[in-house]
Amino acid sequence: MRINPSILSADFGNLQAALESIKSADAAHIDVMDNHFVPNLTIGLPVVKRLQEITPIPLDVHLMIERPDTEALRYAEFAVDSITFHLEASNDPIQLCKKLREMSVKPAISIKPATPVQQAIDLLDYVDMVLVMTVEPGFGGQKLIDKTLEKLPDLRKAIDSQSREIYLQVDGGITEQNIGAIAALGADSFVAGSAVFSNGNPAERIAVLRAAAHRQ
Ligand code: DX5
Ligand code: ZN
Repeated sequence: MRINPSILSADFGNLQAALESIKSADAAHIDVMDNHFVPNLTIGLPVVKRLQEITPIPLDVHLMIERPDTEALRYAEFAVDSITFHLEASNDPIQLCKKLREMSVKPAISIKPATPVQQAIDLLDYVDMVLVMTVEPGFGGQKLIDKTLEKLPDLRKAIDSQSREIYLQVDGGITEQNIGAIAALGADSFVAGSAVFSNGNPAERIAVLRAAAHRQ
């Protein structure tokens, strides 16, 4: 079970301290938004580059941007651990996954709540992770959309029939209360923003989420 805190809910005035507070996490989830693919704007290339330089924690970069087919490659130059792009925004996801892998970055694909799960299943040969959005992308602190969880058992079954390790990630509205049930449906990588940063000590919150994910 992997817990990847989203720094979207951290203090943007002190991201270095935020990263230090989540050293026990498996990766730091970095939400890049361009104000076009989603109606919000966060950070871009220069900030992600600097974050990669100042932290030993692997960066799990979630691109909520248009034109990922070209833009994602610019992020891959920083040697981040994984790059997740949205299938809804890509013209050639297979080619992009291949290019990311050539650049030694783990390719990952994401689907919004309304996107059929089969679109992700069809691309499993090319990815190291599938991200099922459990809210509409764009903002932290939203309530999880229950219907999105129906995608997880189908994906889990398809992933288990592959010989490689492929993570099944969920992002949006993950809490200490629901993480166990979501793990039981097949997810094994959890993004949590407000549950880690808006609720007391981040290191303690990571431990609580991890224990709750395992409990099921
Ligand atoms: C939303 C982002 C998420 C967000 C999750 O579009 O992709 O990573 O930070 O925040 P919470 O955990 O608060 O729902
Ligand atoms: Zn995200």
